[in-house]
Amino acid sequence: MGVGTYVPEKILTNKDLEQMIDTNDQWIRSRTGIKERRIAAPEQAASDLAIPAAVVALKKAGVAPAEVDLIIVATSTPDMCFPSTACAIQHKLGCTKAGAFDLSAACSGFVYALSVARQFIATGTAKYVLVIASEVFSRVLNWQDRETCILFGDGAGAVVLGAVAPGQGIISAHLAADGAGGHLLTLPGCGSRLPLTPDLMKQGLHYVTMEGKEVFKFAVRVMETGALKALELAGMEKDDLDLIIPHQANSRIIEHVAKKLHFPLEKIMVNVDKYGNTSAASIPLALDDALRQGRIKPGDNILMIAFGGGLTWAATIVKWV
Ligand code: ACO
Repeated sequence: MGVGTYVPEKILTNKDLEQMIDTNDQWIRSRTGIKERRIAAPEQAASDLAIPAAVVALKKAGVAPAEVDLIIVATSTPDMCFPSTACAIQHKLGCTKAGAFDLSAACSGFVYALSVARQFIATGTAKYVLVIASEVFSRVLNWQDRETCILFGDGAGAVVLGAVAPGQGIISAHLAADGAGGHLLTLPGCGSRLPLTPDLMKQGLHYVTMEGKEVFKFAVRVMETGALKALELAGMEKDDLDLIIPHQANSRIIEHVAKKLHFPLEKIMVNVDKYGNTSAASIPLALDDALRQGRIKPGDNILMIAFGGGLTWAATIVKWV
């Protein structure tokens, strides 16, 4: 797997937020673990964040753009409704023979996309798949709403997947959804049900809405059950895992899950303090940081687990090559 990431230069700290809304650094740190997040420049859209991440991932994998068979972009903040962000990236990178599509599974999007890529490779339909997660949540946040705007940040991560020997790479994958909880986490005003009008914007329906407490409870529950399911599918025990890379939404959610799973926090990757919740991009950003910190070596078993809007959740176990 070649891995690449990109985050915008601009850092927005909790102290900066204190100047914008009625909040404080202490509240944000103690409730979420977040210290700062990145904010895209006005001219940067999802594809602009994705491209530098993809360039690094391709270089590390030693794969040329023209060799890529498929591009999957996990995002809830695409450049526009259509054409897809994946097509913009396909063109700009020069992936001349690649098919390209966006995948919508909110914060679970990257793990969903890994599983889709795995199928294309396993069937021999694709030799190389470029999986990208790119998000610009700063554009869809109500910056007056202190319950949501403090949580999110912008960023992108990319991986290149190709065939590996049996028993290596993606060992198991579990995808799940419960649409009954869809209303808990939404961006209502960006589709065919509520076309964008001045009135809709006045009501703030073009912003992310979230029932934080309910999402918190859901997250703790499915992170545990999802992890156990991925282990069962892989025929592994918790002790076989070398590292868990969870979706970086809130350090308290991660601590609760560690406790429920009786899994040591030292073996869980956490970097939510630096980037906040970057939705689908959070797991590849954490994966890249784990690699830079030397926390992953060939042969390690890594569990990646995510939850998000939909509601969706997904878990995968990778034996690192
Ligand atoms: N600064 C200061 N005070 C605040 C802030 C803020 N930013 N936000 C809320 N408060 C206040 C509230 O008004 C409330 O005050 P009150 O007691 O006087 O009424 C108090 O703090 C407590 O608020 P709660 O909502 O009870 O805080 P809670 O401990 O539940 O934390 C949080 C809120 C951080 C949002 C938490 O519920 C959470 O993390 N939920 C999960 C969110 C999540 O993971 N979302 C991402 C989903 S992934 C995706 O697909 C996008």
